[in-house]
Amino acid sequence: MNPNSLLTMTALGKEGTIHLLQEAFLFQKKYTDWQIGSQRGPVANLFFENSTRTHYSFAYAEATLGLKRADIEASASSVMKGESLYDTCKTLESIGYSLLVIRSPEDAYYEKLDSLSIPVINAGDGKGDHPTQCLLDLYTMLEHFGHLSGLKVCIVGDILHSRVAKSDFDALRMFGADVFFSGPAEFEREGFPFVDLDKAIEVSDVVMLLRIQRERLTIPMSLSDEEYHERFGLTKKRYEKMKENAIIMHPAPVNRGIEIDSDLVESPRSVIFRQMHNGVFVRKAAIKKALGFSRFPEDISSLPWRF
Ligand code: CP
Repeated sequence: MNPNSLLTMTALGKEGTIHLLQEAFLFQKKYTDWQIGSQRGPVANLFFENSTRTHYSFAYAEATLGLKRADIEASASSVMKGESLYDTCKTLESIGYSLLVIRSPEDAYYEKLDSLSIPVINAGDGKGDHPTQCLLDLYTMLEHFGHLSGLKVCIVGDILHSRVAKSDFDALRMFGADVFFSGPAEFEREGFPFVDLDKAIEVSDVVMLLRIQRERLTIPMSLSDEEYHERFGLTKKRYEKMKENAIIMHPAPVNRGIEIDSDLVESPRSVIFRQMHNGVFVRKAAIKKALGFSRFPEDISSLPWRF
């Protein structure tokens, strides 16, 4: 696999994560107009699952970097004629694409792409990883707190099927945050410590809600939407128990009224739309690295965050 690929947070590691977060910061604050332009061939975005935030913030990042791009819809591609993912990707490489951004419902699909020469950015694989979502989550926490070490992060919902829970758990632990989980017992995941939600809400710096991933359930959730909201949703009553400086996060799409009271989505503690805004900077950083451009010429110790 091309070493500039971004596949999982574990593979990226702590140094690699810091590098991308710093590059994202510089894209936001200083190098706003920096472009790759025609120095590299076009980027192909392959989304084999629905996406609004990831797909269109990659598209926005590519446009502002001056890159040409193609959006490959699975339903309009030869995948529908039985072509394998590898053959589709090898075809795009042969045509001249310089980077593939891929979302797939299949866990670790990228293991089949090992012999490609061009880099791959994983835009989400099944319940495996979602590294650019994780990077924007870390970025948003850093923006608010200035550090990750020591933060108490409670992730609530369908942990079993969540690639965001997996990537965020891997990365936040690398940086010394205390991560715990809550949700219905049917969504517990081996190795992920579950706690009582009402106790956790009172001590958490970050309360991150996740949606129920109904498309991945083999049997329907045992709770009704109303029961789920009452037992595991961020209700106004639970909101009142949050710490004064605590924030609400959600990778979205949000199911208002189920995992979170609709009025709280845009409440003062919510950074949900800020997460989406920050997604563009981290995706520009991931593309810049994937296409082989070196670090911006900055002294990283001048950046405002502690790692
Ligand atoms: N958070 C996230 O991955 O959203 P999309 O599925 O809309 O890309």
